[in-house]
Amino acid sequence: MNLYSLPFIPAEYFNEMTTSYEMMRKGQSVNGSEVIRQRKNGERMNMILTASPIYDGRGNPNGWSAIFKDITEWKLAQEHMKNSEKLSVAGQLAAGIAHEIRNPITSIKGFVQLMKAGLGDRQQYFDIMISEIERIELILSELLILAKPQTIKYERKDIRVLLSQVMTLLDSQAILNNVQFITQFMPGATHLYCDENQLKQVFINFIKNSIESMTAGGKLTVQVDSGHVQEMRIRIIDEGCGIPKEVMAKIGQPFYTTKANGTGLGFMVSKKIIENHSGNIKIESEVNKGTLIEMTLPISFNPALES
Ligand SMILES: Nc1ncnc2c1ncn2[C@@H]1O[C@H](COP(=O)(O)OP(=O)(O)OP(=O)(O)O)[C@@H](O)[C@H]1O
Ligand SMILES: [Mg+2]
Repeated sequence: MNLYSLPFIPAEYFNEMTTSYEMMRKGQSVNGSEVIRQRKNGERMNMILTASPIYDGRGNPNGWSAIFKDITEWKLAQEHMKNSEKLSVAGQLAAGIAHEIRNPITSIKGFVQLMKAGLGDRQQYFDIMISEIERIELILSELLILAKPQTIKYERKDIRVLLSQVMTLLDSQAILNNVQFITQFMPGATHLYCDENQLKQVFINFIKNSIESMTAGGKLTVQVDSGHVQEMRIRIIDEGCGIPKEVMAKIGQPFYTTKANGTGLGFMVSKKIIENHSGNIKIESEVNKGTLIEMTLPISFNPALES
C-alpha cells in the first residue's frame, strides 16, 4: 500500500511522514512527536505519534506499528487558557491603572483651578501639568502594547528598560500596598533576543505575585545579574508571606491559586513563556521571610538561528 495515497495525511506533511518512515527503516522509534492529520471531511487534528519498527522471528524488520493520540481538544483548551490569562491580567491591572491615571488628573485639575482664579506662577504650573500629562501618556501607551493582539516578534531588547516600564505600570499598586521597589542592575550584558510583550507579561505576573504576598508592605528587589557566562539572571525578590511546601508542590498547575480573586494561571503562563525563550525558572522561598524568583535566560538565544 502506498502510504502517501492515504487521505489522512495532509499533503504538506508528506515530508515529515517520510522522515518518520526513514527513522523506522533504520530501526529507530518515533517517541511522542506532535503531528497534524486530517479527517475524511478534511478537518485537521492535532495528534501525538508514537511509532516503532516490528521485527520477525529472525530479527528482520517486517513492518511497523503506529499509535496516534488525538490532542485537538487539549490544544484548544490551552489556547483558551492563554486568552483568559490575558483578560485576567488586564482586569486586575484595571483598578491600579484607574488609580494611576486619576492622580495626575487630580493634580492637573487643581492647577487649572488655580490658574482660573488668577493665582500663582503659571509657568511653573505648565511644567508640572505637562509632566503629569506625559505620565498619563506613558501609562496608556504601555497598556495599549499589552492589549494589542499578540503576534510573537523576537527582537534584541534592553531588559532593564522592559523591567522599568513594567515597574512604572505597577507603581500605583506597589504604593497602595506599601511596597517599595528597589532596582539592582549589575554590569554586564543588557540585551536579550525576546518577545517584548511576552517578557513584560512574565515580569508583571511575578512582580504582582510579590506585591500581593507583602500584605504588610516591604521591599521588592528587581535584579539583573549578567555576571555569568552566556546567561542573564533576572530575580524578583520579595519580603512577603513565603510559599509553604504544600503550595510549592502545586505552583504552576493550571488554576491552582490560594487567592480569592486569583486565576492560578500566572505562574504557568510565565513558565511557558520563559521556556519558549530557552530559559528556566527557579523558586526559593521561606515562610514569613519571602520569596525569590530567578529567571535564567541564555544571552546567545536567537530564534533566527534556532531550528
Ligand atoms: N511571591 C510569592 N509569594 C508567596 N506566594 C506566591 C508567590 N508567587 C506565587 N505564590 C503562590 O502561588 C500561587 C499561584 O500563583 P499564580 O501566579 O500562578 O496564580 P495567582 O497569583 O494565584 O493568580 P493570578 O496570577 O491569576 O492573579 C498563588 O496563589 C500563591 O499562593
Ligand atoms: Mg499571580
